[in-house]
Amino acid sequence: MTATTTSPEPTRRDFLYIATAAVGAVGAAFTLVPLIDQMNPDASTVAAGAPIEVDLEPIAPGQVVTVTWRSKPIFIFHRTPEEVAQSKAVKLSSLIDPETDAERTKPGHEPWLVVIGICTHLGCIPIAQQGDYGGWFCPCHGSHYDLAGRIRKGPAPTNLVIPPYEFLSDTKIQIG
Ligand code: FES
Repeated sequence: MTATTTSPEPTRRDFLYIATAAVGAVGAAFTLVPLIDQMNPDASTVAAGAPIEVDLEPIAPGQVVTVTWRSKPIFIFHRTPEEVAQSKAVKLSSLIDPETDAERTKPGHEPWLVVIGICTHLGCIPIAQQGDYGGWFCPCHGSHYDLAGRIRKGPAPTNLVIPPYEFLSDTKIQIG
């Protein structure tokens, strides 16, 4: 007949098992953080060209914000209905680099203009909501861009460049 022992009180050995299990759980919690962190691209990866997501929710109508993608400034302009209407009304024949407003925005997201913030003349960074056409003004040599980032006056030969981007939802875009 085999004798079985029951121990109503936790023995020292039980306590050791419990203590070891607790340390194991804490250790797992600490190792999880660096793992999750590694899943986000680090600064050098982003600078090298990883896509970035931008939450549009905080950008009010009429506001322009600048984010950085591939070490370049990207202007995101939340245009008001009046600004969209004004931009759509521009005659193509009056443009140096003819492009319609629709060609410079995404269907269904007309208020949003996303352009690379580098002057197409010699690469200065234009100033938002300045100049004769309400878009950007480049102070280096006097280029004026309109509400769709189209060159209207000055030495810049072409419109501000549109980066590759897509809408992930009505309030979020991915650039790159
Ligand atoms: S670099 Fe902008 S006008 Fe020359």
